[in-house]
Amino acid sequence: MDNSEEPASNIIVDSKESAFYLDAAKYWEQVPPTVDGMLGGLSSISDIDLKGSQRFLNSIYQLVECPGKERALDGGAGIGRITQGFLMKNFPVVDLVEQDKQFLEEAKKSLEPTNHKGQFFNLGLQKFTPETCVYDIMWVQWVLGHLTDEDLIAFLKRCKLGLKPRGLIVLKENLTSSGEVEMDNTDSSVTRPRALVVELINKAGLRIIKEQKQQRFPSDLYEVRMFAIQPV
Ligand SMILES: C[S@@+](CC[C@H](N)C(=O)[O-])C[C@H]1O[C@@H](n2cnc3c(N)ncnc32)[C@H](O)[C@@H]1O
Repeated sequence: MDNSEEPASNIIVDSKESAFYLDAAKYWEQVPPTVDGMLGGLSSISDIDLKGSQRFLNSIYQLVECPGKERALDGGAGIGRITQGFLMKNFPVVDLVEQDKQFLEEAKKSLEPTNHKGQFFNLGLQKFTPETCVYDIMWVQWVLGHLTDEDLIAFLKRCKLGLKPRGLIVLKENLTSSGEVEMDNTDSSVTRPRALVVELINKAGLRIIKEQKQQRFPSDLYEVRMFAIQPV
């Protein structure tokens, strides 16, 4: 067998995957660092979104084995909309991970005059490894469509190690109703059906302990669901 064939096919897969990430980075580079930019022109839904997240978090703290309330992570944080509008109200320390430098700079600038404490990581989630055993909650919203299935599983596996005992990860994502994965070539992302999201969560060795649909969003948007997940 000619060994040269195998690396060649891997190279094709790798370059396809990096085009997926590069195209997304290029898309976000030209988006203004504003709430409207983060939400594709739908800044009007930001308050409803943050209130829905707060309600979901409150319900998590009704659980018997609930997480601590010290440190959270905002994954795919953008300009820090979620950190400032919701996570900081619940956790004294919030770290942010975001691939776009400009967004992270904007987050730093707007958080500077506040009592925010936390670190800023300028990195794609596909490359991010959290510190071990430090987070009570890892909130990852409207970004997982930018990861390939394999990278999503690997990211969740690394996140498990970043959780404190009783800590959990919350995923808040758009879901297709067609049962299919839908590709968006404009921002280089996919939207997955619920069944696939659940499959990837399970493949990463996590289980859903609470799930809720976001209420009161305009009916022409994708369904949005929150999943609180914990290591099996
Ligand atoms: C729809 S915005 C949501 C931002 C924030 N989660 C919010 O809800 O306000 C998507 C964000 O994900 C970031 N992003 C895209 N690909 C990423 C990746 N591979 N790793 C981390 N962040 C990424 C974009 O730069 C952008 O800030």
